[in-house]
Amino acid sequence: MTIEPSSASEATHERPLRILALANQKGGVGKTTTAINLGTALAAIGERVLVIDLDPQGNASTGLGIDRRSRRVSTYHVLAGDASLAQAVVPTAVPRLLVAPSTMDLLGLELEMASSSDRAHRLRNVMKDIGRAGSATEGVTYVLIDCPPSLNLLTINALAAADAVLVPMQCEFFALEGLSQLLRTVEQVRAALNPRLTIQGVVLTMVDPRNNLSNQVAADVRGFLGDKVYETTIPRNVRVSEAPSHGKPVLLYDLKCAGSQAYLRLASEVIQREGRLPVAA
Ligand SMILES: Nc1ncnc2c1ncn2[C@@H]1O[C@H](COP(=O)(O)OP(=O)(O)OP(=O)(O)O)[C@@H](O)[C@H]1O
Ligand SMILES: [Mg+2]
Repeated sequence: MTIEPSSASEATHERPLRILALANQKGGVGKTTTAINLGTALAAIGERVLVIDLDPQGNASTGLGIDRRSRRVSTYHVLAGDASLAQAVVPTAVPRLLVAPSTMDLLGLELEMASSSDRAHRLRNVMKDIGRAGSATEGVTYVLIDCPPSLNLLTINALAAADAVLVPMQCEFFALEGLSQLLRTVEQVRAALNPRLTIQGVVLTMVDPRNNLSNQVAADVRGFLGDKVYETTIPRNVRVSEAPSHGKPVLLYDLKCAGSQAYLRLASEVIQREGRLPVAA
């Protein structure tokens, strides 16, 4: 896979900026959990990571410990043109991990943007500043965009701004349902808005290796998508589901648990797929 600098990485970077959109229009498949914990794992191995919360539910912001009252500037303000992305960015408890939080206001944005000609490129346009020296995003090497469970204008903005899509897929009977629609949307965005868009990979989440159905589904998905599916799978793990209520990524909540270890492996695999050398942290 090529590592062409994206249009959003025009600012000077020692490492090229990579922008990954975590998308799947199915709800509850692990998009946010993956944004939080892959982000944390990438930061733990030396990358500088920005999570952009593009879901009105704001779960990525909450899971990263940003309480609702402190979300003074949010991705809504940024996309509405009222603030820069750097103004929305806040640090988290994880070194090298930043977040641009969201609020419910995002729900109304689609309607507000409907008649503007740049509606699909709002995010891409505001991301041009990422990495600017002296700004809150200086030195960022990875951006992870947490999308809402819909193929709406917010998700289109994420796909138009991204280098690649990372698809979390819950390992359950209907896993593949809706996938063709997602792939079609990626294809349409590539043709109309963003020719460099690729699929980074599909990560199987909430896998229960003791469950025959879970194993069968995993085999089916691999049969269908081949090596687009990461070797690493994320096990169903109670520590992963407990962590957000403490406002912490699972890697801070319980580093040794199976979920944390899986996200660390996923981070290495994501970096490897791009042919990037690990950062000497
Ligand atoms: N590996 C896991 N083990 C156990 N629970 C998990 C795991 N991954 C995610 N969950 C839980 O599953 C639920 C859905 O996960 P998550 O919020 O990440 O999905 P999502 O795709 O972002 O959902 P939405 O579509 O609503 O944005 C959450 O309660 C989360 O804590
Ligand atoms: Mg979510």
